[in-house]
Amino acid sequence: MRRWRGLACHSRGVSNGQPSSFITALPKVELHLHLEGTLSPETLLRLVDRNGLDFPYGSVGEIRAALAARPAGLEGFLDHHYVAVQTIQTRQDFTEVAYELLRECRASNIVWVEVFFDPQFHTSRGIPFESVIEGITEGLEAGSAEFGVEAGLIMCINRERSERSAVAMLDQARPYRELILGLGMDSYEEGNPPSKFARAYAAAREDGYRLTAHCDVDQSTSVSNIWEAVDVLRVERIDHGLNAVEDPGLVEVLRERSIGLTACPVRRPTDPEPQDLDRIRQLFEAGVLVTLNTDDPAEFDTGYLTTLMSEVQSAGGYTNADMVRFVQNAFEISWLPQNRKDDYLAVLSEYAEGDAGA
Ligand code: ADE
Ligand code: ZN
Repeated sequence: MRRWRGLACHSRGVSNGQPSSFITALPKVELHLHLEGTLSPETLLRLVDRNGLDFPYGSVGEIRAALAARPAGLEGFLDHHYVAVQTIQTRQDFTEVAYELLRECRASNIVWVEVFFDPQFHTSRGIPFESVIEGITEGLEAGSAEFGVEAGLIMCINRERSERSAVAMLDQARPYRELILGLGMDSYEEGNPPSKFARAYAAAREDGYRLTAHCDVDQSTSVSNIWEAVDVLRVERIDHGLNAVEDPGLVEVLRERSIGLTACPVRRPTDPEPQDLDRIRQLFEAGVLVTLNTDDPAEFDTGYLTTLMSEVQSAGGYTNADMVRFVQNAFEISWLPQNRKDDYLAVLSEYAEGDAGA
């Protein structure tokens, strides 16, 4: 196993609004991050320039102002998100974005990241599936070699599209089966429940993919969507899924079956603190395998995992031991092979014991 290269010394707590040395050097896992949500304003402008595009924003300041002005909620987020994502056009763009992502992961001491990507959004714009997957894979391989961060890929169904289109994506992915760990589902959720994709998920299970699905927070049918993801799609994880707290029977099923929730307590510029801290606390205390993730780090003020975890620790009143438990949960529900999980969990315990003796 490639040994994790972290900082050696650390202290408790958060000081001067900066992440504590404990959180900074904590070895981390990121399980809910969209490649397309990592385009920094600088990268966006570089892609606009290189690809000769019309783009509504001409400067870093204008991009930041547009991010701040987005309406709350999933649809407001996605409408802006997809304008930005259209700047990715070529195989080389995918390679660069993937490589830059692993540089950011290294800066947050992430040792293992599972990266979502949205093939249908790209192929529907005329970009061949092979340019997407080959470009991303090249960037991840180069980034892994350079930064010592390892990554797996999860292709997402865009749930507002047809099931037929999802099945076509699975067909396109088949020659690249070994490069992709799992299948997820994201994008516009209202009116697009998990059961719409029952056959696509059954086919993906046949192909040997690991399975997850977004059940975003506070959709009109969030709770029944979580039940459907569990019972109909038979997913191993739910992305977000925090409305489960409304149904004690569902919380019990998640806990008993070790179905993890990849929570994303992100903060927009107008939010005083990360979102959803109460629901995360309830699920954490109920023994559900809930984890902390950044979702679209370039599009929220919480950024990458060190800053997000630091803000959650301080606003949520978590101890260092609690923060270690969030990372343990993430290793447990990650799609790393069991022997690699065990190795990393041992590294994490060693790190936590160092803090207990500090
Ligand atoms: N695409 C990027 N981030 C997303 C999210 N959190 N939910 C649904 N689709 C997304
Ligand atoms: Zn997401």
